[in-house]
Amino acid sequence: MCGIVGYIGKRNATPIIVEGLKRLEYRGYDSAGLAINKDGKLHIYKAVGKITDLERSLPEPNVTFSNIGIGHTRWATHGKPNKTNAHPHTGQYGKIALVHNGIIENYKQLRQKLTTEGHQFNTETDTEVLAHLVEYFIEKEQDFTSGVQKALKLVEGTFGIAVIHTDYPENIVAARKGSPLILGIGNEEFFITSDVAAIIIHTKKVIYLKDGEVVNLNHEKFEITTLDNEAVKAKISEVDWDVSSIEKGDYEHFMLKEIYEQVTSVENAFRGRLMNKLSTARLGGLNITGNELRKVKKIQIIGCGTSWHAALIGKNMIESLARIPVEVEYASEYRYRNPIIPEDTLVFVISQSGETADTLAALREAQARGAKVLGITNVVGSTIARESDGGVYIHAGAEIGVASTKAFTSQVTVLCLLALILGRMKHLSAQYGIKFLKEIKRIPQKIEKVLNLNEEIERIAATIKDSKNALYLGRGMHYPVALEGALKLKEISYIHAEGYPAAEMKHGPIALIDEKMPVVAIALKDAIYDKIISNLQEVKARNGHIIAIATEGDENIKDLAEHVIYIPETMDIFQPLLSVVPLQLLAYHVAHLRGFNVDQPRNLAKSVTVE
Ligand code: G6P
Repeated sequence: MCGIVGYIGKRNATPIIVEGLKRLEYRGYDSAGLAINKDGKLHIYKAVGKITDLERSLPEPNVTFSNIGIGHTRWATHGKPNKTNAHPHTGQYGKIALVHNGIIENYKQLRQKLTTEGHQFNTETDTEVLAHLVEYFIEKEQDFTSGVQKALKLVEGTFGIAVIHTDYPENIVAARKGSPLILGIGNEEFFITSDVAAIIIHTKKVIYLKDGEVVNLNHEKFEITTLDNEAVKAKISEVDWDVSSIEKGDYEHFMLKEIYEQVTSVENAFRGRLMNKLSTARLGGLNITGNELRKVKKIQIIGCGTSWHAALIGKNMIESLARIPVEVEYASEYRYRNPIIPEDTLVFVISQSGETADTLAALREAQARGAKVLGITNVVGSTIARESDGGVYIHAGAEIGVASTKAFTSQVTVLCLLALILGRMKHLSAQYGIKFLKEIKRIPQKIEKVLNLNEEIERIAATIKDSKNALYLGRGMHYPVALEGALKLKEISYIHAEGYPAAEMKHGPIALIDEKMPVVAIALKDAIYDKIISNLQEVKARNGHIIAIATEGDENIKDLAEHVIYIPETMDIFQPLLSVVPLQLLAYHVAHLRGFNVDQPRNLAKSVTVE
């Protein structure tokens, strides 16, 4: 949620940290700060707002020149987003600077204990308590690493931390539990970060630290241990993200760039996974045998936000192609609901970031009950990817815009493949498989065709930009697409929007419809086309302002809708991959025309690593 960047090496740490923080701004953007260790003293700079505000507040480069430093961009959990609460935090003796992602659950008890020892606090934050605690133990142990280890053993909750200390001017100590932390290995320099996006312009060689690991670095070497000081031999991985994936290029916003990238990201999700000879697909990482898959009697798919919407589409696909019942659950509900997981149930968790706290907790809950849990994630090496019993990467590349777009279509693509695999193991014909494989290859160019409607969609956006509410309607597989379209609009334009199963409209939302209410309807030519047309007639009768997503060639719909966005014909199963694209563009343009920061909507975070 927040972002951490630390640097130790021979270069000036400050610009590297500031640049890294800018790349992490999509993770948290209410305040930021950095600390450097210079001439045996800590220099700490903080600012409310964007990283550019922090950058502007920094003194001359020669004042901030140091080879070692840590920085943080914050998304407030405890305490208001102001300068005092911004990280880094310091301890009682002014020797330590600490940045922290996560939440310390027992901070009140720890604070009370430290207060009895004479500690005084300047903020109400959990992180300040952690800084005091860590500094206290370093003093007690007279050793940087073991002080951090001892302190963290007392902590309940989640943390990714990076620490510098005046007595150890050539070292950074960092540790994690439940919050991602990555060590970047450069040439006589090291980086510590919560997200590889911050450092891939410097190095692609990384170590994904595991929960309960502590790393001590100087510019020559690093040493990883557990909280019990056992040595850890970690594996060095190579990040496969391209630097261009974290740059905006010619696009005004990451979100627009990522919408356009769907032509390739969808292809990347199915590339190398189609098996023409057997008319099916292969998802190598599932780590499950054909026999095991054949025995599956029930599937649960768990996720949050946009990933949850992808799961709903997956349910529809799997049930119709493989006839296996699928339950879709919000991770936050699942984890506290005493879920029933019958025998022969296969559980999937779906998460772009692979770090969403609720999804991770649901994964652990399902595993604790003996279920096999597979992950569908984007971020390689993420906690969910590591902790699941097998899984699939969607290969969408870095997604920076807070409102998820390309990750959604890549998730849906992978779920299409899963539905095909399961279907072909049961009663789905080879003919269907052949048709499926032929058509999926055409989807990227069909997405490109939809993207060509961008200007037309911008014009439609202008007609609804001042609306207070909007209703999105769809039936069957288009209902979750309607939910996703509504979510995109509310996330970035702050217009209240609801997605509804079209026929349910008459049981409530119809009361809201008047000439001011835009109704976005996904009315594609499929088995239930006539049904949605009747629903739209009900809207029209109440003067609703209809924007229809329709199949190319459908002229009749023009009688009902004020605006029609035509998308190419495709097999039913692939329709969501095309119909969601105009909804993403519509939300983007509405938000842009209203003058909002599309990539960093207020109050939202890209990856929600707290409950
Ligand atoms: C946040 C993001 C959403 C995302 C959701 C789930 O709310 O703003 O875009 O869909 O988290 O994230 P995940 O990384 O688990 O897919």
